[in-house]
Formats: sequence, C-alpha cells, structure tokens
Amino acid sequence: MNLHHITESQQFTLPMLHELFREADQMERVAARGGTRDYEHAVMASLFYEPSTRTRFSFESAMLRLGGRAISTERAQEFSSVIMGETLEDTIRVVNHYADVIVLRHNEIGGAARAAAVSSVPVINAGDGKGGQHPTQALLDLYTIQKELRTIDGVKVAFVGNLATGRTVRSLAYLLGKFDRVKLYFVAPPALQIQDDIRDYLTRHNVWFALEHDLRTVLPEVDVLYVTRIQSEVFPGGGAAPDKPAPFILDESTVKLLRPSSLIMHPLPRLNEIAPSVDADPRAAYFRQTRYGVFIRMALITSVLQR
Ligand code: CP
Repeated sequence: MNLHHITESQQFTLPMLHELFREADQMERVAARGGTRDYEHAVMASLFYEPSTRTRFSFESAMLRLGGRAISTERAQEFSSVIMGETLEDTIRVVNHYADVIVLRHNEIGGAARAAAVSSVPVINAGDGKGGQHPTQALLDLYTIQKELRTIDGVKVAFVGNLATGRTVRSLAYLLGKFDRVKLYFVAPPALQIQDDIRDYLTRHNVWFALEHDLRTVLPEVDVLYVTRIQSEVFPGGGAAPDKPAPFILDESTVKLLRPSSLIMHPLPRLNEIAPSVDADPRAAYFRQTRYGVFIRMALITSVLQR
C-alpha cells in the first residue's frame, strides 16, 4: 500500500482495502503471539484535541504491540501550548521532530488535512470536527463486516442516529460505496439526515440508497444495523435524555425485527440508543468492533511507517 497521510476514506481503493484486511489478519496473529519488536525504534505521537477512549488507546495499544513507543496528550487544547495560542501547524512542525507518525484528533473539520499539509511524518486522522471524517473507525467497521459476514458486496446497511454530523457514518458511507450492489438506508429525522455531499457521492457512484424515518420498517431488510449516538441537544427526546424514550432506540422489542444473521454495530460510546439488554445478543458486534480496531490500526501504522 502506498500510504503516507491518512486523512479521509476516499483515498482507499478496493485493492488497498483488501490488502489492509490481509495485513490486519496477519496482525491478529502477531498480537496473539505476544506482539513483535519490529518497530522498536519508532515513536508514535497521539495528539488529541478532543476526548477519546477507543481511538487513542487502540492506536497506542497497536503501537506497543508492534514494539514501538507512544507519546501522547489527551486534551491538547488544555495540556499543550495550544492554550498559549500555538497554531495546529506550528504544533505539527514541532512534533515532527519527536515522532515518526502522528495520530491526530482535531475539533475542526479539515484539521487532519491542515496537519498533513505541513507534516513530513505521516498524519493519521483520528476524527476531525463534527461533520468531518473518522477514516480509521470506518476501516475497522468495514473489517468487522468482512470478518463477520464474510463479504461486503451486496450488503444492506441501515445507519441510524445523527447522520448529519456523525463522522463515522460519513467515512463508512464513502467506503461502502466502493463495493458492488450495496444498499444503504439512512434512518433519521430530516434535521439529522445524511448531508448532500455524501448523497452526491453515492449518486455519482451509482450506489443505491434511501432516506428513511421509520426504523421498524427498515430492520427486517438489512444485514447490518449501524447505530450512532443522538445528542439530546440536537434532537430533543433522543439520545442522552433517560426520561424521554429515544425514537430510534434499539431494545428487546425492536431487535426482534432484525434478521437472525444480521449484525448490530455502533462506533461507541453509546448513550441510551442501545439498551444494555441487547449486549448479550450474539448479533451485537459493537464490542467485537473495538477488538478488530487494534489489528486494523496495527496494519495502518506499519503501512505508513514502511513507505
Ligand atoms: N469510536 C470512537 O471514536 O470512540 P472514541 O471517541 O472513544 O475514540
């Protein structure tokens, strides 16, 4: 794979995705035998301007399993020179001298591209802004589908939640659009529907998609239900408000409508959009996704360091 910076999903071709999945399979075997020392001279900087549990820890876990070392700041806006007004560009220029790869989560759309423009070491986008992208999450999501359903061609996926600014959904829609005969259902109220840029991309690439508002009618149709958080401030009655039932909540009554072979996915963290009672259902793949994420991120780190 000819990878340097990883800023958006669109830069991955189908052959690159297949190669990445083969590498991730290999990384699972490497991790199972206790890791490797192959990258013991490499340093990864994780520079996070927004909170994270999964992305930061899984990247750092991936680097440690490769034998490398990680330096990090988890709230760069408070615990780095950003608080004194340093620009992202200057921070990246400096960290270039400390690390061989930078994993960046930034609070602005395009933050990763800005960093990549001035960085001589690879920059990996770990999420940029509300409505930006989260390509490595989408890659691990796609890998989860491949591992668990054995194919991505022909898959029917329903996305539920805040699709307007959900960066994981946006990145995954771009990737799924590269496969044959996929069908994408975007289930959300009008204010939170998937944005025109994604619709235009899917239309240009002849990808079947539908905008829906009734989760119950979609559930029996799909192979994958991809649930995302709905912030209560943008959708009164949904998401974080425990005293108000979320219109798109997945619980024991709604999960019955799904096919026996389907997958329930979520990038996490969840609020109340998936009831804890669903966790024991074998179709609930959201914690398995987090495990696959380590192997995908090991494969991505090796790809950008080998160039
Ligand atoms: N899925 C995801 O990006 O989780 P974190 O915010 O915990 O990294």
